[in-house]
Amino acid sequence: MSVEALAGGTRRRRTTKFGIVGAGAVGATLAYAALMRGVAQNVALFDVNAAKVHAEALDLSHGIQFVPMAHVDGSDDVEVLADSDVIVFTAGAKQKPGQSRLDLAESTIGIMRAILPRLVEVAPDAVHVMVTNPVDVVTYAALQVSGLPPERLFGSGTVLDSSRLRFLLAEHTGVAAQSVHAYVIGEHGDSELPLWSSASIGSVPLLQWRTPDGRIALDEEARDRIATDVVQSAYRVIEGKGATNYAIGLAATRIIEAVLYDERRILPVSSLLEDYYGISDVCLSVPAIIHAGGVGERIEVPMTDAELSGLRASAEAVRGTARRFGF
Ligand code: LAC
Repeated sequence: MSVEALAGGTRRRRTTKFGIVGAGAVGATLAYAALMRGVAQNVALFDVNAAKVHAEALDLSHGIQFVPMAHVDGSDDVEVLADSDVIVFTAGAKQKPGQSRLDLAESTIGIMRAILPRLVEVAPDAVHVMVTNPVDVVTYAALQVSGLPPERLFGSGTVLDSSRLRFLLAEHTGVAAQSVHAYVIGEHGDSELPLWSSASIGSVPLLQWRTPDGRIALDEEARDRIATDVVQSAYRVIEGKGATNYAIGLAATRIIEAVLYDERRILPVSSLLEDYYGISDVCLSVPAIIHAGGVGERIEVPMTDAELSGLRASAEAVRGTARRFGF
C-alpha cells in the first residue's frame, strides 16, 4: 500500500481498486461489506449476466453517501476489473442442499479456466483470492491455469470455518468470539479439523478453560460436538436459505483488508504448501501471514500427532479431487 506525500506534508493514500468476479449472493455481499468497511476507493464487479451486475452496482451506488468515499462499477466486460489491486473470485455453481463442496469441482473449474487468463491480462499485478468452491481444489487448479506465483493467488480457505469455530466456542463458554483464538485447518470442507491443542481463550489454553463451577468446559464430547457443528454449518444455512453469503462476505473482506493495508495478519487461508510438516503440492488452509504481496510465511503451528494425521488425511481428500480433474 503506497501513500503519496503531498505538498504541505499531508499524506494521501494511493487509490486502491478491489475487483470481484461474480455478482451473485456472495459477490454482491462482499462488495457491500467492503464498502461498509471502506477498504478501497474503487469497487468493480464483473459478471456474465449484464442486467444483474449493472443492477447490483447501481443499488450499491445508491447508498454511497452513507459509507466511506468510494466508486462502484459493474459490467459484463472483464475490462471493468482492469488494474485491480486485489481480485476475489466468487463465480461458480452453488452448493445444493446436501451436496458437498467437492461435488462442485467440475463446473467451477470450467468457469475458472474461462475467466482467469483474462483477469491476469487486465490486472497483471493483482493479488487473487479464490472463494468459489471447492476452494482448495480451485485454488490449486487456478495456480496452474494462471501461471501466477503461489504468493499471488490463494483461497479464502478456513478463515470462515475458524470464525464459525470461534462463534460456537464463545457461545459455549460465555466469552466474546474476539477473545477466542482457535484455527480450523485443512480442507474448507468435510475433512477440516480444529487445532484444539494450540487454541486459547484470553491467555488460558482452551483445554484448561473451566466453567464457573470449576469443571473443564471443553471435554472430548463438547469438542467433538462443536467440531461437527462447524463442518455442518454451511449445510444448515444452505438448507434454510439456499446459500451462505454474509459470513463468507465478511471473511473475504477481512482477507482483502490484510492485503490492501499490508497488515501481515495471520489468517488460515488456502495456499500451496511446500514441505509443511512434510506436506507438499496441495492447497490447504494453515495459518499464514497475509500482506500486500499476498500470502507469505506459512506458520508451522505446534500440533499433536492426531492433528497432524488429520491434516494429512485432509490433504489426501483434496489431492484426490484435484487429480480427478487432471491437476
Ligand atoms: C461456506 C461456503 C462459503 O462454508 O463454502 O459458507
